[in-house]
Amino acid sequence: MIFRQLFESVSSTYTYLLASRVGGEALIIDPVFEKVERYIQLLEDLDLKLVKAVDTHTHADHVTGLGALRDLTRCVTVMGERSKVDVVSMRVREGDKVKIESISLDVIETPGHTDDSYSFRLPDRVFTGDTLLIRGTGRTDFQNGDPYASYDSIFNKLLKLPEDTLVYPAHDYKGDTVSTIGEERANNPRLQISSPEEYIDIMNNLNLPNPKQMDVAVPANLKIGYKDADPVIQEWTLNIDAAMNRRKQGDVIFVDLREDYERNRDGVIADSVHAPYGRLAEFIKPGGLLSTMAGQTGKTIVLYCAFGERSALALKAMHDAGLPAVLHVGGGLKAWRNEGGEVVSV
Ligand SMILES: [Fe+2]
Repeated sequence: MIFRQLFESVSSTYTYLLASRVGGEALIIDPVFEKVERYIQLLEDLDLKLVKAVDTHTHADHVTGLGALRDLTRCVTVMGERSKVDVVSMRVREGDKVKIESISLDVIETPGHTDDSYSFRLPDRVFTGDTLLIRGTGRTDFQNGDPYASYDSIFNKLLKLPEDTLVYPAHDYKGDTVSTIGEERANNPRLQISSPEEYIDIMNNLNLPNPKQMDVAVPANLKIGYKDADPVIQEWTLNIDAAMNRRKQGDVIFVDLREDYERNRDGVIADSVHAPYGRLAEFIKPGGLLSTMAGQTGKTIVLYCAFGERSALALKAMHDAGLPAVLHVGGGLKAWRNEGGEVVSV
């Protein structure tokens, strides 16, 4: 596996780049906006294609690189379903898996530092965001933080992982880079307690100043959705009413860009064709599934995904590739369901 731990010194943030092979797909965890150029350079150096960018939670101390990376690489943005960010491509919950090629991260819901904190686990390591730090734990005094939830996430989830599991946090202010679950259980001063109340007491009395960039970072990080100011996207976006009408008219083919687990979890629009976004380039090449459909069926393709971000990016890519008879469903399946649109099991 290719694994890089990258550091941003203003906010002492660690960002992680994962890939299974040179020339393959990559995933990035907790990218920082100011470092995006550096990540792009590294991806090029290692001949990697970024396919997913994940934030462990809504950060208060730095502006996320998720939006910029998506705009530059058309990667899928991923956060937990409890996140209040306006749009990400994919929202995950406990038990889901975030996959690229041969790498699969288990999603563990670990609220407490914020109410939208998640950890992501490989068999030998866990990316703990700010839930569990090296010899510390993430503060719980803003962004709906909750010391009891933090206790529960740490003691009942993270510390239940095997002792030798490597711990990679989102921050370190002392220069430590990695720890293990066993090492933290034995040495993390906040975890040497005999009751949840004792932990809550510690957390409620930290009296920390707010992060310097908080007033800028939080609002910025809540608005990272794809800006559909692009005229092509504006022109070819269907609102839900229009999408339902076109479906009744029968002159369209709905194409679902989501992954299998999302389809199994949330259902599909009946009779839609599955063309997962990660393989879009292959589908829109001459002879590919979508270019063939666009050319031969005489019907208009209507792309949809979970929230309308992947479908907007795919729409743009298809128009750029000279496949103009393509629309997308603004707001995706979430908006479709909200408006009473029918969804069936796969
Ligand atoms: Fe944080």
